[in-house]
Amino acid sequence: MAEQTVLVAIDIGTTKVCVLIGEMAARGGVDVIGIGQAASDGLRKGVVIDIDRTVQSVASAVEAAERISGLKVRSAFVGISGSHISSQNSRGMVAVSGSSRHDVDRGDTVRAIEAARAVSIPNTREILHVVPRGYVVDGQEGVRDPIGMTAVRLEVETHIVTASSTSVQNLTKCVQRAGVEIDELVLAPMATAEATLNDEDRELGVCLADIGGDTTDVAIFQDGSISHCATIPMGGRSVTADLGIVLRVTPDVAESVKFRYGSAVPMNVDPDEVLQVTSIGEESSHGVTRRHIAEIVESRVSEIFKFIGAEIEAAGATNRLQAGLVLTGGGSLLNGVQRAARDQLGMSARIAGPTGLGGLTDQIATPPYSAASGLLLWGARNWPSEEDRASGRALEGVTSRIGKIFKGLMP
Ligand SMILES: Nc1ncnc2c1ncn2[C@@H]1O[C@H](COP(=O)(O)OP(=O)(O)OP(=O)(O)O)[C@@H](O)[C@H]1O
Ligand SMILES: [Mg+2]
Repeated sequence: MAEQTVLVAIDIGTTKVCVLIGEMAARGGVDVIGIGQAASDGLRKGVVIDIDRTVQSVASAVEAAERISGLKVRSAFVGISGSHISSQNSRGMVAVSGSSRHDVDRGDTVRAIEAARAVSIPNTREILHVVPRGYVVDGQEGVRDPIGMTAVRLEVETHIVTASSTSVQNLTKCVQRAGVEIDELVLAPMATAEATLNDEDRELGVCLADIGGDTTDVAIFQDGSISHCATIPMGGRSVTADLGIVLRVTPDVAESVKFRYGSAVPMNVDPDEVLQVTSIGEESSHGVTRRHIAEIVESRVSEIFKFIGAEIEAAGATNRLQAGLVLTGGGSLLNGVQRAARDQLGMSARIAGPTGLGGLTDQIATPPYSAASGLLLWGARNWPSEEDRASGRALEGVTSRIGKIFKGLMP
């Protein structure tokens, strides 16, 4: 098998690490040929706090995926998120120097994006992505693809995503110590979007929320591209922790109560149904109504939606997201979450699992695997074509591990 047709995704979550090995299919698209998963306990709120444990989780997930595929993992696309991520809009401007008269060429767009990239950011942070959102050609706003247009001045509107350097370094260290080089660090919700949103969602305006274990990643897309992103430091595990505290039960018991009886809509739960639970340190069980459990769940879920609403407001997107809310991640599987989202945010909501991959997808066709699947799709979309390889342009892309601008330019 030609090595350049194989690519790997690693999603390092707060509850699990998931590794997917994909093969570019001859017909186009990507087939999953290896899956590996391991429990993750070296992160808090999306950020590595224990390198050794994280390395162990990554290494064991990589090994499992290698066993299934029969291939050795050398490098991977790796997701990054956490509240240290921030983003801003920036405009870059250049004079058009196109080869034939003043026709905008690819070089002009690259220079414009370089100019937008030259924003001042503190030296404790680094740029992850510079995403072009649209061009202004001689003052004409809203141009999607300026290449070939005649102009004197080209401006680009970009969305710049930055991350704390120490978080980037620690994550990189964990992956490298597990024996894997990094093709690219990708903002997790941007990857997740690849697997859960379609072009129409992005055009109409949509808020994607990946409700994970310790975190909920939010990304807002308007007019076709990302306009805002944030990480909320709570998720499905926060619901479990609340149940554990209020019912005074162990995390395992709380998790199983949540899975079996949890609901985010108390009104839909029979107020007379009583469960027996045994609190820590007690010998006999006592009764708790299912409605009380739902009220505990609802209060945390509604807090999460309050924060999501605040991010939509911060993006200036209130009442403007016609495609509504798309929920994914393990937390979206909690009973009643979709209804709670609609009621609280007053917008349509759907739950999405990953789509777009072929091969071994049975196991991963559910919301907890949207980020890993999206990373594979992201990798495939940014993989240098034969033509790019032949012309040496790939040097600016994946193969040199530094192709951030190049990738932003891919259609
Ligand atoms: N069927 C289900 N019902 C309720 N909750 C569920 C279900 N399946 C998974 N969860 C919850 O989803 C959470 C884990 O989600 P996920 O696997 O997306 O997290 P992660 O990717 O490891 O974390 P993060 O994205 O925060 O880094 C856990 O809190 C788990 O309890
Ligand atoms: Mg996740």
